[in-house]
Amino acid sequence: SNFERPRQALLKWYDGVHEVRGMPWRKPYQKSWNAEEKAQRAYEVWVSEIMLQQTQVATVIPYYNRWMERFPTIRDLAASDIDTVYSLWKGLGYYSRAARLLSGAQKAVKELGGRLPDNAQDMESKIPGIGRYSAGAICSIAYNQCVPVLDGNVHRLLSRLLALHAPPKAKQTLDALWAGASAFVEGAERPGDVNQALIELGSTVCKVRDPACSSCALRPWCAAYKRQEREGSEGQGAI
Ligand code: ADE
Repeated sequence: SNFERPRQALLKWYDGVHEVRGMPWRKPYQKSWNAEEKAQRAYEVWVSEIMLQQTQVATVIPYYNRWMERFPTIRDLAASDIDTVYSLWKGLGYYSRAARLLSGAQKAVKELGGRLPDNAQDMESKIPGIGRYSAGAICSIAYNQCVPVLDGNVHRLLSRLLALHAPPKAKQTLDALWAGASAFVEGAERPGDVNQALIELGSTVCKVRDPACSSCALRPWCAAYKRQEREGSEGQGAI
């Protein structure tokens, strides 16, 4: 892949920072996992990704831990009810996320033998509330599959990396960014870590305002950074 070198640089950065933050949903993928163990991991990653969609990492951690104590498996969740689910969600906001977790779990138990699908396409089409982003996150992290993620953070990071100046929500732009995200993860040995590293670099370094370019692992490949360098100090902060 064209992205082999930036990917290695990104992972080297990620390996140095990610353990510091102590996220309970992060467990290294094991080749020895059987289908049942993979499905269990998919459930855990699903819950964490839905919680993380609109909420910061530090806030999510205690909610995630309480949730997993109360609903250790997808069957425990499916057997619960909306009031119990809401009580565990209290304070996180965007309660429809909790309702979709419950209905998704119930569908998985009723129709899919209590397991989330084993690939991103089925996950997206069969589980309500799992979109392209969540399916990519779950399948790359829990199953070690080379499928892309594009959330707000990765959108911004790749727009800068590729110096894409286009309406951010236009279909063409999104297609180009999904293609970029796919190319970045294609052929990776640790696709889940590559995707999480992109998310994390986007949220902690390649920030909306004042991106910390001087400490960015992808700076040598960043088209927006190169442009800014060419333009001198006038370009500072303009990317
Ligand atoms: N935000 C969304 N997904 C995340 C993840 N897996 N790790 C950290 N932050 C995230």
